[in-house]
Amino acid sequence: MDKILVHGGRPLNGHVKISGSKNSALPILAAALLTKEPCIISRVPDLSDIHYMLTILSELGCEVERASGVVTIKAENVITDAPYDIVRKMRASVCVLGPLLGREKEATVSLPGGCIIGDRPIDLHLRGFEALGAAVRVQSGNVKVLAPELRGATISLRGKFGSTVLGTDNVMMAAVLAEGTTVIDDAAEEPEVVDLANFLNKMGAKIEGAGTRRIIIEGVKELHGAEHEVIPDRIEAGTFLVAAAIAGGEVTLRRVIPDHLKAVILPLEQSGYKIHSTADSLTISPNGSRSAIQLDAQPYPGFPTDMQAQMCALLATTDGVSVVTDSVFPQRFMHVAELKRMGANIEMQGSTAVIHGISRLEAAPVMASDLRASAALVLAGLTAEGVTEINRVYHIDRGYESIDEKLNSLGAEIERVKA
Ligand code: UD1
Repeated sequence: MDKILVHGGRPLNGHVKISGSKNSALPILAAALLTKEPCIISRVPDLSDIHYMLTILSELGCEVERASGVVTIKAENVITDAPYDIVRKMRASVCVLGPLLGREKEATVSLPGGCIIGDRPIDLHLRGFEALGAAVRVQSGNVKVLAPELRGATISLRGKFGSTVLGTDNVMMAAVLAEGTTVIDDAAEEPEVVDLANFLNKMGAKIEGAGTRRIIIEGVKELHGAEHEVIPDRIEAGTFLVAAAIAGGEVTLRRVIPDHLKAVILPLEQSGYKIHSTADSLTISPNGSRSAIQLDAQPYPGFPTDMQAQMCALLATTDGVSVVTDSVFPQRFMHVAELKRMGANIEMQGSTAVIHGISRLEAAPVMASDLRASAALVLAGLTAEGVTEINRVYHIDRGYESIDEKLNSLGAEIERVKA
């Protein structure tokens, strides 16, 4: 297993290109299952999660070709049982359920196992499929959805923690080929849902309202092939903004959609950074003094839970007392114990982290526990005194394309060591 060594204390300067969005690309690739014709998807990031999704699609019978960020998928004949060995490695595999159900009227995947960021149910996805007329059976660790026919319906996807992103994607992908009109209420409003809806509409679907809480889908008989470029990864972009904030210096992110990052820009400005945006770039630089802030991760357009760990790393060395809550995944605070190993002064009060800023973190061997927590540890290492050793870095490779090379190009000193 690779390790990452981060030599702390080097400022970041320069510019970096942001990759295509992982969370957009995953359901978009799965959506290619909805047609027999080829789909061409560009700006697909080179990540292990994407690799898993392409492997699942191949196992389901798709012809998959990939060349420098462009993936072509032809799903002429498909089978409807997703392979357990790969599905268990990535929770997002669950988003093949919707398109398989839409096209073949049945699908089986293994239930996502316990996940390190809390137990992550798929009850809302299944509630949506049932409303469309599918029977759901859970047997021997698998979930099977089966429908003689799919009929449009009005469905609320509101759960205890708000809506569901992949659940909205899944129901939308099943409903595009259902008979009649489907209304999804309390839909997730994330830009990745909009990107998927745009791709489905290019394939001939009739979807309106994506990006709002009510999505209306007029079912069609069939879909055709289409070409699509995935939107920029707003979480990778946010992570680089926080990296620059932590390390100091002036960094410009290129190929971003600044509008998608409003909820990340605001708290960064409040905590003492200047952010300048153009149509497709963002530049961050220090703005004098830094201040403690209060943050609550919420569904989009709120502050993203996927940026919560990275902000905790920044606030650990920001003077004053910051308070961070996660209302989407209340248990998502595994990074706190690791940051404390680096000297951070953080107490957990239920699902709230109370962070007493200190002047500098100290390097320590730490363990990456999930994707965003591992990014937070790399960022913490950028400012820490000494060399931070991060183990289990396969987590970071799930969601960040060459993060070490990109940070090094900005002036960081990060080594990847083969164990
Ligand atoms: C997606 C993102 C993930 C992000 C999350 C929240 C992908 C591949 N992953 O995950 O990076 O952190 O959105 O922005 O896009 N829930 C239920 N029942 C369900 C489904 C979800 O109770 O059936 C709960 C979850 O436990 C969680 C909340 O709803 O508390 C939001 O989860 P959800 O939006 O579904 O996350 P994902 O779509 O899995």
